Amino acid sequence: MLQALRSFLSRRRRPGIDMLVPRRAPPGPPKIDVSRVGHGFGVGPKRVVALKDVDISVHHGEFVCLLGPSGCGKSTLLYALAGHLEPTGGSISIDGVQVRGPGPDRLLLFQDPALFPWLTVRQNLIFALRARGLSRSAAEARARAYVSLVGLDAFLDALPHQLSGGMRMRVQLARALAMDPAVLLMDEPFAALDAHTRSQMHLLLQRIWIRDRKTVVFVTHDVREALTLGDRVVVMAARPGRVLHDLEVRLPRPRDPDDEALVLMSRRIRAELAGADAAGAERRREEEATHARTSAPGGAGAGPPAGLGAPG
Ligand SMILES: Nc1ncnc2c1ncn2[C@@H]1O[C@H](COP(=O)(O)OP(=O)(O)OP(=O)(O)O)[C@@H](O)[C@H]1O
Ligand SMILES: [Mg+2]
Repeated sequence: MLQALRSFLSRRRRPGIDMLVPRRAPPGPPKIDVSRVGHGFGVGPKRVVALKDVDISVHHGEFVCLLGPSGCGKSTLLYALAGHLEPTGGSISIDGVQVRGPGPDRLLLFQDPALFPWLTVRQNLIFALRARGLSRSAAEARARAYVSLVGLDAFLDALPHQLSGGMRMRVQLARALAMDPAVLLMDEPFAALDAHTRSQMHLLLQRIWIRDRKTVVFVTHDVREALTLGDRVVVMAARPGRVLHDLEVRLPRPRDPDDEALVLMSRRIRAELAGADAAGAERRREEEATHARTSAPGGAGAGPPAGLGAPG
């Protein structure tokens, strides 16, 4: 009893500390397995190591946020998961099968809702569903159901230009969910929305996720967005793009981004990111100094700076 009280009090004193813990993988094989993935763009001294030795496993029904500063390889990793980009090293498998290109089991969502401007909301969904082989009546029923799920019943017959940015995003979400992919891949989908619409989208996405438990990989550079949405936050750093921490968020849903514990957690993660940034800048200064010394006349010769070679 005393023990339980102590533990409760210590949790009260440190909100946000016990609720953000290193991730422990559940038993069983993962749905997505990213193993020692590396990716380099370009060749020679200009080569950019977008990803280096990235290991991430995602289990069925997890909501994972990839969080990190600009250029840390979040989109590169997401496109590799989608099969739009073949990493130069390592392997990615889904349900034990190596990813070799795009597939209907994965759907990628961007900031740009990419709706056909000449088709109504209903027709946009029906078009996508018919392309997946649904009959006209099945597509019609499914389109209605998913437009309703995102609260746009009154806009079934509206054209995209008659909708606000947030509404277009909801249509994109409805279309993606209607296709029922096993994995949803989202690349900063709400970044262009105003703060209010964005938090509405956060609530909607959480509500739908609680209902459907889709496997989601969501890219963001916004710490609070990651903590509001993710079961897990994979914190990445740049140059080379790599995983710093894989954390489990144990906050109840639906989450409020202004929640005290969440704000504390976000401070902790920001401090980690700032530390990684400072360490990276220091390392680059040292690399540049070494490079300048070795490429000076009589030096050891010019070559790519240390750490910018091909990923393993
Ligand atoms: N097609 C490309 N050609 C050359 N370099 C690229 C290409 N795409 C990305 N890069 C480089 O790879 C690194 C990772 O890029 P990526 O787009 O994955 O970052 P990101 O984390 O998504 O950044 P942001 O938050 O700005 O979207 C960056 O240094 C970027 O300049
Ligand atoms: Mg990106």
